[in-house]
Amino acid sequence: MAADPSGTPVLALRDVHAGYQDVEILRGIDLDVRRGETVCVIGANGAGKSTLLKTVFGMVGTRSGSIRVDGVEVSRDSTRARLARGVVLVPQGRCNFPRMSVEENLRMGGYTLPRSAVAAGIDRAYQTFPVLGERRGQAAGNLSGGEQQLLEMAMALMLDPKVVLIDEPSLGLSPRMRHRVFAALHTLAGQQVGVLLVEQNAVQALTVADRGLVVELGRVARSGTGPGMLDDPEVRRAYLGLPA
Ligand SMILES: Nc1ncnc2c1ncn2[C@@H]1O[C@H](COP(=O)(O)OP(=O)(O)OP(=O)(O)O)[C@@H](O)[C@H]1O
Ligand SMILES: [Mg+2]
Repeated sequence: MAADPSGTPVLALRDVHAGYQDVEILRGIDLDVRRGETVCVIGANGAGKSTLLKTVFGMVGTRSGSIRVDGVEVSRDSTRARLARGVVLVPQGRCNFPRMSVEENLRMGGYTLPRSAVAAGIDRAYQTFPVLGERRGQAAGNLSGGEQQLLEMAMALMLDPKVVLIDEPSLGLSPRMRHRVFAALHTLAGQQVGVLLVEQNAVQALTVADRGLVVELGRVARSGTGPGMLDDPEVRRAYLGLPA
């Protein structure tokens, strides 16, 4: 993908600690995501992958360390302020407004934007995901699971983000729909967006990702290019369920 290896990372975490009550889950996370780059986070259940995305978005507080978006420190900012900086979280699961049409959902995604920007955002969404344009008048709840996942992504894109955080986008989808969701992620990265992706379908995710990270005991225990991770015997054995 068209990642710019020399530029300032669009997202940079340094020694980030976060957790819940008296439990520390993230214990010094370091990572960079550059424009146009897709970075895939893998790790065991309960390793803290969702917590990582929530911490970047501000739903879980940062206890110490630094989170920068395009060079600007955001770790003390509200979720709303981070949204304004261009960080969006694509939540797991089905769409939030099932009775509203696809187009109304997209408007909801852009509710903080001026009217002209909403129109432009909807046009962009239909260009990126033509299937949503074909279904624009249909109730979102009648879309297939995979199409609803595309709608969630499109809603996040209404805000013209710099950083997209996506938690388990292919969960519960058929192989065909999974393929479509991964193709959509590829499109996002092509638009110079930095994508931080958490995915159970690690093999497929690492195939499309530029880089992969393994989170273990609250830290990045291993990292490499997507293909490099797929070839790493230790990663294959411990995380991918593949022969080493
Ligand atoms: N709101 C919360 N309050 C307290 N503990 C929590 C909360 N959310 C998550 N945890 C705990 O934090 C740890 C990390 O959870 P997290 O959801 O980040 O894991 P994960 O890597 O996303 O796992 P999975 O692969 O199962 O989705 C788990 O032990 C979980 O029980
Ligand atoms: Mg999770």
